Parts: sequence; structure tokens; C-alpha cells
Amino acid sequence: MFKTIDDLKVAGKRVLVRGDLNVPVKDGKVSDATRIERLVPTLRDLVAKGARVVVLSHFGRPKGKAVAEMSLAPVADALSRALGRPVAFARDCVGDAARKVVDGLGDGDVALLENLRFHAGEEKNDPAFARELAALGDAYVNDGFSVSHRAHASTEAIARLLPSAAGRNMQAELEALEAALGSPQRPVLAIVGGAKISTKLDVLGNLIEKVDALVIGGAMANTFLNALGTDVGKSLCEADLADTARAIMAKADAAGCEIVLPSDVVVAAKLEAGAASATVRTAGVPADKMILDIGPDSAAALAKRLEDTRTLLWNGPLGAFEFPPFDRSTIAVAKAAAMCTRAGTLVSVAGGGDTVAALRQAGVADDFTYVSTAGGAFLEWLEGRELPGVAALQK
Ligand code: 3PG
Repeated sequence: MFKTIDDLKVAGKRVLVRGDLNVPVKDGKVSDATRIERLVPTLRDLVAKGARVVVLSHFGRPKGKAVAEMSLAPVADALSRALGRPVAFARDCVGDAARKVVDGLGDGDVALLENLRFHAGEEKNDPAFARELAALGDAYVNDGFSVSHRAHASTEAIARLLPSAAGRNMQAELEALEAALGSPQRPVLAIVGGAKISTKLDVLGNLIEKVDALVIGGAMANTFLNALGTDVGKSLCEADLADTARAIMAKADAAGCEIVLPSDVVVAAKLEAGAASATVRTAGVPADKMILDIGPDSAAALAKRLEDTRTLLWNGPLGAFEFPPFDRSTIAVAKAAAMCTRAGTLVSVAGGGDTVAALRQAGVADDFTYVSTAGGAFLEWLEGRELPGVAALQK
């Protein structure tokens, strides 16, 4: 168990809030503000309680040096707009510049400090750097699940120095993840897509122990089909992992987890938007073509299966969704999942970089029970690993 904001005394206190403001910025403007918006409920709560709110975040990977292009300054403006109140910005996250801005805050004011990763101590989880940060606050709130797989000074060491709690976004994320894998309603179905099984071996290994059915999509499915002796033509495929794929299937069988592979697929000669394509049975992939999506029969079967599923966990698109028409099955299944969720028969939790983009493309990101903005942290959680930032709050 961990504490929440409700367990902290924050009125008139300086509260350090670790968010994840590592947002995409194009030409000095934030191009996707989702992570900023997710931080707003925590900041609003703290403001309403009269706290002096100090937001901490990293941005990019500047590797311990100040890099002008990785300043959080443009993000301060976006944060201020999302919050609907001024956000003071400090040109450094420790030292005089930070102290001056924090000392200038009144009750209910908000400040953002410069990129934590401008200091090498952040990524080293350096206790001295954590102490410098902690000196700026009376309490600490972690609201950045998406960065909690990093044992850094602002996510791990600092939690041991100040009264600490989970923010609203962290709470919502942990509750959604608990509902999806901790104590889910059954049957539980997981969809795992993406290019390579080599990057998701631990995810697959963990999921087959926990879910009732595991749908494999994306180019990952090709590796499994190939391991079963199916000719996948020119498809992206990790032929050297055939034994591994067979071992995963045997382990799934022993655990009572059904592995679901496509029965039909969409093939083309080139991976490009609008490429001429055909639908074939999985056993009939032409030698000169590549599989770029699961086929309509497979997508329809999956949509039907969702009607009898109570919990869905989704990571990774089913096809090369960035290149229409190879986005069709991902969109069709996303819409089916959204419909079941709206009907109240399905708890749907999705996460991981491409997955969120795919759900947005399908126009259903808001219809899922929970869509995580976490990339690496979501994957590590899917692997069943303890996240240092979350563990630090629980101690
Ligand atoms: C993310 O974007 O996944 C988080 O902000 C973590 O960033 P990192 O991979 O650079 O640690």
C-alpha cells in the first residue's frame, strides 16, 4: 500500500511533485499534451489545499549536461495553459535559481523547475543530489508512473527523504493495472503486437502465467507462424527465435493460456501507405510478399471473442498501422473493444507508445477504461517487474 495526497498535510507546505513532462515538442511547441493534462488533477488538488507546488521532471536524455534544446521552459507555458494559472519557471532544478523561485511561492502557487537530467546525479540516483532536491520541499508526491521504472534521484532516493505519496495519476494508473492483471475479472485476454518477440520475451513469459488467452499480432505473429512451419514469405520474422517461440507456446499450453494466432493475413510487396494488398489464408502467403496486418476474418473473430471477455490488456498494434490500409484490423478491434467497454462488459487497459497512437487513430482512446501514457514503464510492468519509483512509495 502507498499513501495518497489525502494522507499528507500540505497546506502552506512546499510539495515536490515528480511528473513526467517528457512530452513531444515540435518547433518549440508541445505537440501532444496528454502527459501534461494527466498531471493537472494532482496539481489542482494541491493548489486547492493551499500547497506551494514545485513540479519536477526530466525532458529528453541530455546525459547530465545543460542542453538548450532540452529545456523545460516551453513546457512551463503549456503546463500553465492546462492548469489555467501562472507557473513560475526556475532555470535550474537545484541551487540558488531553484531556491529563489521556490521561496517566492505563496500558498496555492505553482512552479516548474528546469530539467532534472541536466545534473548527472539524477540518473545516478545520487543521494547528495536527492538531498539537494529534497531541501526544496516539505513533502514529495510521485505522479509519474511512466518514469517510475527508472531508479533515479527524483523517483527513488528522494522518496526516502521526505513524507511521500502517490499523486492522482499514479493512483489511477496503479488501480487500472491492478484491475487488469492483479485481480482481474475473467476471462482475461491480452493482445500483444509489435515488430519483434525478442524485445517482448519477458512480457510474453509473464502474461502466459496470468491471462486466459494471448493474442499475438504484428510482425511478432510471423515468428510464431514460422516456428509452426508456416511459410511467411518475405515477412519480418525472427527465424532464429523459432525454438524460443515453440517454448513459449509449450509453456502457455501447460499454464492453460490459449495462444491466438491469425488465420488470415493481409499481404503486400511493399511496406508503404496505399500499397496494393491482398488477403490470404495464413497457409497461403506468397513467397514474394510480406504479411502487414492480420486479416478481416481474424479481426472479426477477435472482435467476437471480446464480447465474452471481461478484461482486456493491449500492448502493440496488430498490423503496420502507420501505413493504411494496414491499420484496418487494429482499428476494427480497437472499436470493438471500445464498444464492449461502453456497454460495461469489458475492462480495457492499453499502454505502450504505439498502442496509444493506434487507439487515437481509431478514435477510441477515450473509450477505453484506462490508456497508459507510459512506454518503458508499462512494458516493465507487463514483464511483472517491480518498478523502483512505485516500490519507493510503498516502503
Ligand atoms: C518515457 O518517455 O517513457 C519516460 O519519460 C521515460 O523516459 P526515458 O526512457 O528517457 O527514461
